[in-house]
Amino acid sequence: NDDRKTKLGKNKQPRLRRERSSWQRRRSDAGNKVTVVLGAQWGDEGKGKVVDLLATEADFVCRCQGGNNAGHTVVVDGKEYDFHLLPSGIINPKSISLIGNGVVIHLPGLFEEGDKNEKKGLKGWEKRLIVSDRAHLVFDFHQVVDGLQETERQAQEGKNIGTTKKGIGPAYSSKASRTGLRVCDLLGDFKDFSTRFKNLVQQYQSMYPSLTVDVEDQLKKLKEYAERLRPMVRDGVYYMYEALHGPPKKILVEGANAALLDIDFGTYPFVTSSNCTVGGACTGLGIPPMNIGDVFGVAKAYTTRVGIGAFPTEQLNAIGELLQTRGHEVGVTTGRKRRCGWLDLVIVRYAHMINGFTAIALTKLDILDVLDEIKVGVAYKLNGKRIPHFPANMDVLHKVEVEYETFPGWKTDTSAARKWNDLPAKAQNYIRFIENHIGVPIKWVGVGKSRECMIQMF
Ligand code: GDP
Ligand code: IMO
Ligand code: MG
Repeated sequence: NDDRKTKLGKNKQPRLRRERSSWQRRRSDAGNKVTVVLGAQWGDEGKGKVVDLLATEADFVCRCQGGNNAGHTVVVDGKEYDFHLLPSGIINPKSISLIGNGVVIHLPGLFEEGDKNEKKGLKGWEKRLIVSDRAHLVFDFHQVVDGLQETERQAQEGKNIGTTKKGIGPAYSSKASRTGLRVCDLLGDFKDFSTRFKNLVQQYQSMYPSLTVDVEDQLKKLKEYAERLRPMVRDGVYYMYEALHGPPKKILVEGANAALLDIDFGTYPFVTSSNCTVGGACTGLGIPPMNIGDVFGVAKAYTTRVGIGAFPTEQLNAIGELLQTRGHEVGVTTGRKRRCGWLDLVIVRYAHMINGFTAIALTKLDILDVLDEIKVGVAYKLNGKRIPHFPANMDVLHKVEVEYETFPGWKTDTSAARKWNDLPAKAQNYIRFIENHIGVPIKWVGVGKSRECMIQMF
């Protein structure tokens, strides 16, 4: 109509360029790409070590989900650091670490972790840390409730989940039921925050009458934490947008927990409460899928699991014990012994279906150095027939029979290997088999705890 024509004419609005189809879109249109590192098993695959390796060149290292249920170990110059809420990249003085909106933050835990690592020599971490204002808070009572829920599960069903008792499930429940409190609420009107905090406590007390909370004491502490946190807080979405669309930047996303612990795709209900697969990187940081670049899956050369739940390749025998002791398989967060078994390629392939790994980091190959023979789970059978998918139902998963391939052990110390050619032929054969079976190239092979104990294949 005429009116519209005159308006457009008057303002001389430039015409928007037609959107290019995705394969024509240049990098400059889409902005920088982020590299994502994800666990491909049940956690503790060595994500911290892989992130540390990449973080030496990164401008930003971001956490997008989970909380301090994670425990990521980094060993640099003989010093061992363990990170729970802080991104492992915090060790690099030249990079910025970001805790995204998808993470649930226990503030006492965060500051305790920072202070502990400061004593080990980590300097200036508070200046390098950015926290999203949309991230939800984990309160002390969420952690108490986590314990109460475990006791209840044990009483009702004769088993619990074996959570880390860090309040992760209850905090994500508060978020989903829309009664949770976020960083922006804590930094806003404190009177309003206090009212909502009291309501939330009451809600939990009505569910768990034995729960006692010293509300005034909690609020006093939270007010103090708020002031220490304030300088680090930003609008996470805008911060990421600027990082993606400014000059070229290397941005790393450090996944916590792992595919088989994912709330949607893991061995439910024996899982954690967030999306630990690639979608969590978008929702947990507020970034578009087109900005996802490489997705690196981290898998151990065998399998471990902490807590309860089905584990088809578990070895409840001398092999399992050997992997546990040689691999020092003890939880970083809870100190529990990890359950151990053969590498299960059914689960790694399943993790690849969901995440679309561009490459794999295979860690802890050195732990297998002393074995006479090594088995790898390659398929599951139900009633004698191979099944093509990973079962959703835990009763079914408990019933599967694992089909194994057996490889001769290399019986050689690989810990000093730094190149592909330094590895014994039998170890090379084991690695090539894994690569071909998953259908994803293996980019790194880990042969020890330290930063330098990593063979880069390409
Ligand atoms: P994350 O949660 O995935 O970061 O892994 P954790 O830190 O919980 O557990 C992995 C453990 O294995 C840590 O103690 C690491 O130091 C150690 N580790 C990582 N890669 C290797 C490796 O290639 N060889 C050996 N021997 N240890 C490794
Ligand atoms: P990283 O990042 C191993 C497991 C717990 C439990 C279940 C639910 O170090 O790989 P939660 O406290 O999250 O409600 O517990 O999930 N779990 C992990 N196991 N590594 C982790 O993290 C884990 N995070 C959660 O043991 O079985
Ligand atoms: Mg861990």
